[in-house]
Amino acid sequence: MSFELLCRSLAAHGQDHLVKYWPELSKNERENLVSELQKLDVVEMNEIFRRAMDSTKVILERNDADLKPIPQTHYEAVPDLSESKIREYETIGFEEISAGRVGVLLLAGGQATRLGFGHPKGMYDVGLPSHKTLFQIQAERILRVQQMAAEYTGKEGSIVWYIMTSEHTMRPTADYFKSHSYFGLNEENIVFFEQGTLPCFDFDGKIILDSKSHISSAPDGNGGLYRSLKTQGVLNDITRRGVRHLHAHSVDNILIKVADPVFIGYCKSKNADCAAKVVQKSTPSEPVGVVCRVNGHYKVVEYSELTDEAAERRNPDGRLTFSAGNICNHYFSSDFLVKICDYESKLKLHVAKKKIPYVDADGVRQKPSEPNGIKMEKFIFDVFEFAEKFICLEVARDVEFSALKNADSVKKDCPSTAREDLLRLHRKYIREAGGVIADDVDVEISPLLSYGGENLTELVGNEVFTISPFHLKSMNEAATNGVNGNGNAH
Ligand code: UTP
Repeated sequence: MSFELLCRSLAAHGQDHLVKYWPELSKNERENLVSELQKLDVVEMNEIFRRAMDSTKVILERNDADLKPIPQTHYEAVPDLSESKIREYETIGFEEISAGRVGVLLLAGGQATRLGFGHPKGMYDVGLPSHKTLFQIQAERILRVQQMAAEYTGKEGSIVWYIMTSEHTMRPTADYFKSHSYFGLNEENIVFFEQGTLPCFDFDGKIILDSKSHISSAPDGNGGLYRSLKTQGVLNDITRRGVRHLHAHSVDNILIKVADPVFIGYCKSKNADCAAKVVQKSTPSEPVGVVCRVNGHYKVVEYSELTDEAAERRNPDGRLTFSAGNICNHYFSSDFLVKICDYESKLKLHVAKKKIPYVDADGVRQKPSEPNGIKMEKFIFDVFEFAEKFICLEVARDVEFSALKNADSVKKDCPSTAREDLLRLHRKYIREAGGVIADDVDVEISPLLSYGGENLTELVGNEVFTISPFHLKSMNEAATNGVNGNGNAH
């Protein structure tokens, strides 16, 4: 489209302020602005703004009677399952992994603003004895679970790791993996793709200019997954490789059981198209969304949308009625993803009022001290209501969930708690395997040695651990003094 046509289109849709500084721009700046404007569908963006604002006006007329917990028939809790049931699910999961039918969708496009880290969050080192980053820990869990599946079934299969990045995290993430030789994984089985962005608007629906030649934009939320799966060719890749089961999760849960065979097996055996792992809410006021049914539809109800009465309601056994805490840990069948990516444009837009830097009337960039505009995000869980067979798997929080959200100063969901939660879990694994370890001794178990506490008895049974900190490695890892040289271990 020519520049003149572009300007006419912007003017027709009330966005021509975006070219206000055109006469002042250098050649490079003009090229940059035109390239951004050409990618911008103003009609669609104005419609998105209108939809987003409408959604904030909807008065929540829902009352507590509309809310129902997940029915027992659609809910199982790992801590209550028999050992044989867990092995049954795990076996199915191993078979699917070995057959090459399992993929992981890693949500790594966030901006990590609360953590305040200038790199992708997956590159964060929470200070474990090994100094492994979140990405490395997850890569090694994939390696180990592939190995476990191969040992069990006698057939080697690969998990495909789909890593969703965003404008700002794509390059550093891909470079990081490359410079670490993909942590021992086959490069062909890692697919990086980029989620989309949405422009930031002021409260009147004008798109904000971040500089005279650059539009202010932000990633379109973790629910941007569905659009990018389609636009970036990932759905085709999933189909081409014959991947049937996708485990989707956030990048920041240090305890994540990546490609969990028990979860995959549970979902497959129930013929589920969509599922959520949940943890029990710790208290009625814990700020976590709950998975429940609203007028018959599976949804995540944000903690701010639950009345105190509903949040505090308990079953006769004392358990909170709405206790299924959502932890951004989901299962999708590939058929469901194909279907849902067609509904993608109907997904709810969540609006957050933010302080967004802007260019003022005099052309000076300002950093506001009060919210001056909105960012819009889609959430990954907003597709639950479209599932035909949605189920939940409750897991133990101390085994499977510890999120890295904040800087240490917040003292919650921060690097120190992530590190402590992982070391506490590893002490538990050592004790279960017959080892002796005091609470103040820090031993990290390499994921290459053990995925979920298995494979330790021979190594740690009757051992007394006194050296702290200590990194318990796999044989191969010890022989090479740690993958990528981060082996301060023993
Ligand atoms: P959060 O909502 O916690 O966001 O994301 P964040 O970026 O990690 O942190 P803040 O809010 O800026 O402090 C939950 C998961 O969703 C991913 C994140 O990378 C994280 O794994 N996410 C979030 C995306 O992939 N894309 C997004 O646009 C937003």
